[in-house]
Amino acid sequence: MAKALIVYGSTTGNTENTAKQIAKVLAQGGHEVVIQDVRKTKVEELGNGFDLTLLGSSTWGDSEIELQEDFASFFEEMDKANLRSKKLAVFGCGDSSYPHFCGAVDQLREKIEDMGGVIVNEPLKIDGDPGDAAEDISGWAHEVAASF
Ligand SMILES: Cc1cc2nc3c(=O)[nH]c(=O)nc-3n(C[C@H](O)[C@H](O)[C@H](O)COP(=O)(O)O)c2cc1C
Repeated sequence: MAKALIVYGSTTGNTENTAKQIAKVLAQGGHEVVIQDVRKTKVEELGNGFDLTLLGSSTWGDSEIELQEDFASFFEEMDKANLRSKKLAVFGCGDSSYPHFCGAVDQLREKIEDMGGVIVNEPLKIDGDPGDAAEDISGWAHEVAASF
């Protein structure tokens, strides 16, 4: 059985909801899943003892780092993690009426690639309410589940 860690940062609950939907699909696929709020996560946990690490952040785009506020400080510490050759996937919620839709997802992807991590699937960007995107989330999670 493969082991996945899902870490999310969420202000109004949308990315948390998405993370839970993803966790359900991975668990149904027979994987062991640990899901936790970024506030309760240490950067050293990333990729450490897990076959896949999924990072989810919503976007709050009025500063250089567009990540959700709890994830922003975690992001700045991420260089302490060893992600080289580790498998990761990225997701997040946003709103396409903003100029940089889901910019946090792009920033996470770039950081992971700079650190030598392997992104297993095209990042998932949810526009609006994740309750209306259940099929997209489930389809993406199934692809991720098949990748590790
Ligand atoms: C002040 C503010 C700024 C935002 N900036 C962006 C942005 O730049 N890009 C984007 O895609 N969404 C932006 N959003 C939308 C949020 O990312 C979206 O509401 C998301 O679903 C929140 O997810 P969360 O509940 O997981 O934090 C912004 C929302 C607010 C209220």
